[in-house]
Amino acid sequence: MQSPSRVAHKAVILACFSLLCLTKGVNTFVNGNGLSNYTFPDDFMFGVATAAYQIEGAWNEDGKGESMWDTYLHKHPHYTADQSNGDVAADSYHKYKQDIIMVQSLGVKYYRVSLSWPRLLPHGTDNYINKAGVKYYRKLFEGLLKAKITPVVTLFHWDLPITLMDLGGWTNPKMVDYFEDYAKVAFMLFGDLVKIWTTMNELHQHCLNGYGSNYFVPVLESHGIGEYLCAHYMLLGHARAYHLYDKEFRPKQKGKIGITLDAFWAEPKDSNKKEDHEAAERYLQMHLGLYAHPIYSTEGDYPPMIRERIDNMSQHQGYPRSRLPNFTPEEVEMVRGSSDFFGLNHYTSYLMSPSTMEPTWKVPSTDHDTGVKIEQNPNWPIPGAEWLSVYPPGFRKLLNWITKSYGTKIPIIVTENGVSDFGGLTDFVRVSYYNKYLYQLLLAMHEDGCNVAGYFAWTLMDDFEWTDGYKVKFGLFHVDFESPDKTRTPKLSALNYHEIVRTRRVNFNFIKIPSYKYNDL
Ligand code: NOJ
Repeated sequence: MQSPSRVAHKAVILACFSLLCLTKGVNTFVNGNGLSNYTFPDDFMFGVATAAYQIEGAWNEDGKGESMWDTYLHKHPHYTADQSNGDVAADSYHKYKQDIIMVQSLGVKYYRVSLSWPRLLPHGTDNYINKAGVKYYRKLFEGLLKAKITPVVTLFHWDLPITLMDLGGWTNPKMVDYFEDYAKVAFMLFGDLVKIWTTMNELHQHCLNGYGSNYFVPVLESHGIGEYLCAHYMLLGHARAYHLYDKEFRPKQKGKIGITLDAFWAEPKDSNKKEDHEAAERYLQMHLGLYAHPIYSTEGDYPPMIRERIDNMSQHQGYPRSRLPNFTPEEVEMVRGSSDFFGLNHYTSYLMSPSTMEPTWKVPSTDHDTGVKIEQNPNWPIPGAEWLSVYPPGFRKLLNWITKSYGTKIPIIVTENGVSDFGGLTDFVRVSYYNKYLYQLLLAMHEDGCNVAGYFAWTLMDDFEWTDGYKVKFGLFHVDFESPDKTRTPKLSALNYHEIVRTRRVNFNFIKIPSYKYNDL
């Protein structure tokens, strides 16, 4: 096993290496020393994020039940890019103490993790609680608090108990009850230690990829129907958990609870074309507004433009009712305002133009309902996963879009942001990505008045990246998946992030990046 002192030793070696890399060159874009003029406020929440299935491993240990990812990947070993699964992953179930030291070494004060629902409730339902699961998470949270790190806990980061998937997963209205029951167990068991909750992670990616297509488990491919049922019942489940916490737990536990949504930035393909601007707006409404409008808008419910579009299309396609379910007036009220913060995951941007049909689209489908052709800009680099191209200004634009749409009253917390590559400790791509994206975040806050309260880098260490398996890497720490200890080693990006957190500024000169371009910020 790698001792904490060995991790620290490696950090020191890399720190020395990075010091050697310090450039003395003058960069006038920011200031003479390469430092951003703007700073992050003292109370800005800097953190780092992970998720249970991607790091924990121990898939069948100590009474854990199976999640739908466990079951599906065991049955379909070729589904992921490298035929891998999360059986062992980074083995954090056994190595969580090292993880805490790593988080601490970054200087951040927040660590976002998720609970594995089937580790706590092996049958999915709350009639039986797995004591070993409770023990694991309590030890993790106690360890974090001892290290002066606040746990930020996601209840559902995609690893649904297979027992509940067998009942239809999020297409089943009963899931709203099951999720509330599960949330109650979590609040009761951990609410003394956990003061920041996020109910669910990235509803759009989960529903669209898993229910509306085949890119994620459960591979339902119920395009045009499944993703909307999923969205609908997830939103209701979220709202029920929010109100449960608000009424029964908040008075004593005094915490905060919100949700994590995700969005790409939608850039009009031709900025001179009105229809490309309209297409971009339609895309954002479908990708983010579908989930955000019911919660954060003053009137609640689905965005009127989306409601109308899917209702009309459903009618023309001969469906007896809209493929997008309707909220009752009571449900609109229950969902509206059900979040103390706007959790946002953001990674990349795409170019948008209108289209009525593309060769790859199915009918019905979200693509067809949206009517937008989505393309990557060949000028934006793609350093790892093929869906993720780097366009830092998109981050600022997205933060502005959210602010314009939902106001500044509810703070935005960036619950994930990061980039993938194909591995290695000298991850200049990641250093550059964080510098540039965080710089855009500073501009959004200081120049544009966006209310952003926190930022979580994705992710602490290399992990199981869903359909991409272990092929692409997002970690600030490298994990040697071949080694029995799953040895963790800090990358340059870990040192760079530590420096940003320490100084509350972006320092473009801290690590000298070969052929670094300052002028495309
Ligand atoms: C968002 C998801 O929440 C996370 O699980 C995933 O690893 C990252 N995106 C990168 O794809």
